[in-house]
Amino acid sequence: MRFSTLATVLVAMVPLAHAADADRGAELWEQRCTGCHSLDANRVGPKHRGVFGRKAGAVADFRYSTGVGNSSVVWNETTLDRWLTNPQAFIAGARMGFRVGEVADRADIIAFLKRESGM
Ligand code: HEC
Repeated sequence: MRFSTLATVLVAMVPLAHAADADRGAELWEQRCTGCHSLDANRVGPKHRGVFGRKAGAVADFRYSTGVGNSSVVWNETTLDRWLTNPQAFIAGARMGFRVGEVADRADIIAFLKRESGM
């Protein structure tokens, strides 16, 4: 009985202990982000390579919204998680309306962006 209780607790903890998976993130990014973004070219949205660790609105040849262009946010795990949860709630006036609902999906996509930024 004791063991099965412990096992239940451990199984219940697994989602909280999700380790970010950049390979799964690459697939999710391919499916959900490439309609508007690519790694090395600006499209509807700015290019993504190097975005991790960069200031928001910093791709020189992309025309950002005033909100993102004037933002002092630096992209890291925390800020990207908030952005992907709801861009317009995080930076007022943001032009990206797309959201990622699942915390594990966000973490994996962020791990991919971090890897592709060489970090
Ligand atoms: C429907 C089009 C669209 C989709 C889909 C989309 N984006 Fe965006 N994204 C944009 C636009 C447009 C901007 C510029 C926002 C602005 O200037 O307000 C942007 C900006 C960003 C930025 C800020 C970049 C910078 O240089 O500051 C990040 C990070 C980002 N997107 C990540 C993602 C990720 C990750 C996905 C997939 C989960 C995604 N986006 C899906 C359109 C999109």
